[in-house]
Amino acid sequence: MKKKLLLTFLTVAFSIVLLVGCTTKQESTGGNEEKVVNVYTSRHYDADKELYKLFTEETGIKVNVVEGKDDELIERLDREGEDTEADVLIVADAGRLHRAKSQDLLQSVESEVLNKNVPENLRDKDNSWYGLTKRGRVIVYSKDRVNPSELSTYEDLTNPKWKGKILVRSSSNTYNQSLLASFIEINGEDKAKEWAKGLVDNMAREPEGNDRDQAKAVVAGEGDIAIMNTYYLGKLLNSSDPEEVKVGEQVSVFFPNQDTTGTHINISGAGVTKDANNKENAVKFIEFLSQEKAQSVFAEANYEYPVNPNVEPSELLKSWGEFKTQDISLNKLGENNKRAVEIFNEISWK
Ligand code: FE2
Repeated sequence: MKKKLLLTFLTVAFSIVLLVGCTTKQESTGGNEEKVVNVYTSRHYDADKELYKLFTEETGIKVNVVEGKDDELIERLDREGEDTEADVLIVADAGRLHRAKSQDLLQSVESEVLNKNVPENLRDKDNSWYGLTKRGRVIVYSKDRVNPSELSTYEDLTNPKWKGKILVRSSSNTYNQSLLASFIEINGEDKAKEWAKGLVDNMAREPEGNDRDQAKAVVAGEGDIAIMNTYYLGKLLNSSDPEEVKVGEQVSVFFPNQDTTGTHINISGAGVTKDANNKENAVKFIEFLSQEKAQSVFAEANYEYPVNPNVEPSELLKSWGEFKTQDISLNKLGENNKRAVEIFNEISWK
């Protein structure tokens, strides 16, 4: 009798263990009950949230979002290691995505959809990350004091005629590192270094502030020309602060190197994390964002260009005109980053 009771007890206990085991497994693999994708993103736009909702409606996959600053999200992913909840990382700049890949935080995926929607030069050569939006790093000039016919190339900004007139942020910023990395690729190290040195000689002030602050300094008369990313002009023109709108209205965009090597472009993009618990859902999520229906919404939320060649940019971006871009793979921005940082230090670009 005692034996039978013990046996019953053991059977029940064993069943509970089995049940618990199954439940845990189902959750971690995103089984039918609760399909999820956990996203770490540096983006914080309402339009993104609408898209996530649409994704959930279409696929039944719930999107959990953790927002943060680009570098902080990469650090967090690194710190959490294989315990991370994150399935997808979305950050700005190919140099940063390359860094996340180099730190072994991303995994390569196979996706015909992504290969079709994202041009080859805008994705990682090992499929660890994919560009989702595109921006140019351009010349923004004072409408009052600069005639665009005086402008031509990035190289020309080192001409003594621009002495004390150029505004650009610090070299510790990834955007400038990627810009110089592209010059290393296209013109070689020596010429890239010469350019950086020449630009420092023409600076209106020691680098300070972010991209938007350079446009503000142009309007304040500290200099005539700023180097900045295209979407910041969109942000200024659409700002809730009337002072910022005024700044946006007093400057204009010039796309450099149209007759030579093309304007420097960069991306914001996404990758599946190395330890993703929901890899399949993560791939579906990135695929969704690369598709025509999502691309214009996703890009427009931050005044960027879609990467999908079948999707047109917004009216504002179209009004700036089409432009020729550098003909290099953005993989090179990450690969040349270390040398770019060294050059900045050698020539003392603060
Ligand atoms: Fe930015």
